[in-house]
Amino acid sequence: MNKPNSNTEILSKKDIENVFHPNTNLVAHKDTGPFILERGDGIYVYDTDGKKYIEGMAGLWCNALGHGNMELAEAAMKQFEKFPYGNLFASKSHEPAIELSEKLVELSPFDDAKVFLGSSGSDANDTQIKLMWYLNNALGRKKKKKFLSRVQAYHGVTLATSSLTGLPTIHGNFDLPQDMFLHTDSPHYFMNHNDGETEAEFLGRIVANLEDLILREGPETIAAMFAEPLMGAGGVILPPNGYFEAIQPILSKYDIPLIDDEVICGFGRTGNVWGAETFGMQPQSLTVAKALSSSYLPISAVILSDEIYTPIAEKSGELGIFGHGYTYGGHPVSCAVALKTLEIYERDNILAHTNTVSPTFQQRLNKCLDHKLVGHTRGVGLIGAMEFVSQQDSNKPFQQKGKVGKLFMDLAKKEGLIVRAIGDIIAFCPPLIISDEQINDMFDIVDNVLDQTFKHSETQRLMQ
Ligand SMILES: Cc1ncc(COP(=O)(O)O)c(C=O)c1O
Repeated sequence: MNKPNSNTEILSKKDIENVFHPNTNLVAHKDTGPFILERGDGIYVYDTDGKKYIEGMAGLWCNALGHGNMELAEAAMKQFEKFPYGNLFASKSHEPAIELSEKLVELSPFDDAKVFLGSSGSDANDTQIKLMWYLNNALGRKKKKKFLSRVQAYHGVTLATSSLTGLPTIHGNFDLPQDMFLHTDSPHYFMNHNDGETEAEFLGRIVANLEDLILREGPETIAAMFAEPLMGAGGVILPPNGYFEAIQPILSKYDIPLIDDEVICGFGRTGNVWGAETFGMQPQSLTVAKALSSSYLPISAVILSDEIYTPIAEKSGELGIFGHGYTYGGHPVSCAVALKTLEIYERDNILAHTNTVSPTFQQRLNKCLDHKLVGHTRGVGLIGAMEFVSQQDSNKPFQQKGKVGKLFMDLAKKEGLIVRAIGDIIAFCPPLIISDEQINDMFDIVDNVLDQTFKHSETQRLMQ
């Protein structure tokens, strides 16, 4: 390699030499190098060569208020000056954690609730798992320890949550999933229905499969079911109509609480504060992260209904301690930024704004269905996806899976748009502050890139 001279080249070389990238093809990375972003402004981000991009994914589905929000920076600075670190162990507390917990209880669907603070969606879901084990030990239900989730679910990548996640790339070579994690059907009607099967028939089939699985394993062995209201990282998969209404009575029948993973959907993404409202879920516990602080600082929370909290608390009295917690759980600066984020959502009516602009987003997305490459579009609020297929009007995938999706993502990047390819699904999840005009700019690029992708896919024979 010639001696690097631009800042981008110098950083790329150092990156390749030193950085171990998550969720990355580490072999390809040695040749392609990193995509280095330097700064952001609203829905736009800029790379180290000054090129501007629309952040069509809000980072990792998280940066709801976009970049450059000085109020969040000031909230952090103020807290840094006053009390930059504190924890919640052994009854210690501080104002930002107290105020944030009160706010989250107020927003929650529960009359009474408690908030357990963490730093990431994964650690919060890990906490959920441990809480269910603890609960069932407290209640003397020693066998009720397994968890249900779904194929294509994403609940994190810690040792336990990787098993909850239902994606092969998260399991492969890690000796996962572990035995006590059971995956029931993905609710992805478009890809998974049988020939001629209606959505209602598909729903009936997967609901029956869920009950069969519960009975096969023994309801007395199942602690809880985790579900995202819509599945984000699995490919923006919306459940069929009536899905949660159909599974909830079964879960109740077998005394299986529903844990609602709101890490992507929470705080307005689907057009309601909670994805649970959009999809008719009635959970006993919530996991939140990402948009909680608009991702300016790491923070997550488990919001637990009192029916689950109370037996846990009583048991901890017997043991003398509730033995779980993280050094950074309830970090005061993260809490202060989260509180300010929630204040801005309310003050600036971000939810109302989402519902004002989402029709443009959804219409422009649906229009992509006219393109020969696209077999399905779907979405709600300000999240959506299009799925590429080898024959329009079919759900037939390509033989070489993921190549067309990656091609689209790379071409979009050249045109100044960041999206995420999940195999041959392209996901869109822009900051919630995006305007109508910016949505149109984004989909003008999408239309152009669809044509380019089609042309290149034909030339490279990727379309079979
Ligand atoms: C629904 C859901 N749950 C959990 C997680 C894990 O969150 P984190 O990456 O903060 O650990 C994610 C991350 O994308 C997610 O989408």
